[in-house]
Amino acid sequence: MRYQGLLQTYREHLPVNENTPLLTLQEGNTPLIHAENLSEELGLNVYFKYEGLNPTGSFKDRGMVMAVAKAMEEGSRTIMCASTGNTSAAAAAYAARGGLNCIVLIPNNNIALGKLAQAMIYGAKVIAINGNFDRALEIVREITAKHPITLVNSVNPFRIEGQKTAAFEVIEQLGEAPDVLAIPVGNAGNISAYWKGFKEYKEAGKSSTLPRMVGFEAEGAMAIVKGEPILEPETVATAIRIGNPASWKTAVAAAEESGGQINYVTDEQILTAYRTLASREGIFAEPASAASLAGVYKLKSEGYFKGGETVVCVLTGNGLKDPNIAIKTVATEPLVVEDTEEAVMAAIAQLEQQ
Ligand code: F0G
Repeated sequence: MRYQGLLQTYREHLPVNENTPLLTLQEGNTPLIHAENLSEELGLNVYFKYEGLNPTGSFKDRGMVMAVAKAMEEGSRTIMCASTGNTSAAAAAYAARGGLNCIVLIPNNNIALGKLAQAMIYGAKVIAINGNFDRALEIVREITAKHPITLVNSVNPFRIEGQKTAAFEVIEQLGEAPDVLAIPVGNAGNISAYWKGFKEYKEAGKSSTLPRMVGFEAEGAMAIVKGEPILEPETVATAIRIGNPASWKTAVAAAEESGGQINYVTDEQILTAYRTLASREGIFAEPASAASLAGVYKLKSEGYFKGGETVVCVLTGNGLKDPNIAIKTVATEPLVVEDTEEAVMAAIAQLEQQ
């Protein structure tokens, strides 16, 4: 049967009732790709949960379909969020689909161009503030508390409900929970959602084990690792450029209860993993996503693994959202030559020598 979307597929595990519209853009149902080359290199059984193949190109679609469906059920006309880009793209798309208005607040000059393009083309009202994500979220919380506007950041519990379905899929795809789940941490909603999903599916008898949850912040934004908010977070991975994560406590609980940890990776480690993913496995994910693989490399170098563990790295967003970083990272312009066979053959020879 044709895939029906998350709300229909997992309705028994979600706050879906007869009044909830079964909104869908066919989100979820994303592939779990085995890392053929890196598994061998790392001595692990590595998989990528490739969330970049969701309808707006990130995992945010899972939570947004649920949050927007509930907003519609409650008769809301307008939704609003703060975003480093992906949440706004998802909110704008599902609002368009559901016939709602959408307002998004973004940090000026600090979101990837593709994400901005998405929010605009889906018809959201896009406002860029001279401030960072944390400040944008504060403002959104203030406005939505005073006006009849539904907040759709992950502090909205329906977002977490939708996002937990990724853990269900991982269990279904592997036949059981992995040993370790590696995931980027920004506002910390997703690690909280996965942990909730794994626990619920274990309780439902779908897996006999639970994974260790290992989350990775970017070094310049490692509030949880440091134990205090970062006032001016900075990282090349703009999606996780967040200094005061809203789901801080539940993220720490996920790490502690599961016997995992919240750790950090440097921008250099993120960019190395980002290139490795593309050049060794053929997967183009955005920089923030590569924090999960960068983290696995870091843990490996620290002797964390005994060898052979099944490790699922969550790749949260599609690399095409941020082509500028890819072009900058490779640091070479394409070779431009005359339009003759000889010139092209000479160029190939030249490139082969590099
Ligand atoms: N990866 C990507 C690509 C993201 O866009 C985000 C968060 C994360 C990881 C971190 O997930 O916040 O649940 O810990 N992006 C949000 C946004 C903040 O506005 O799109 P988290």
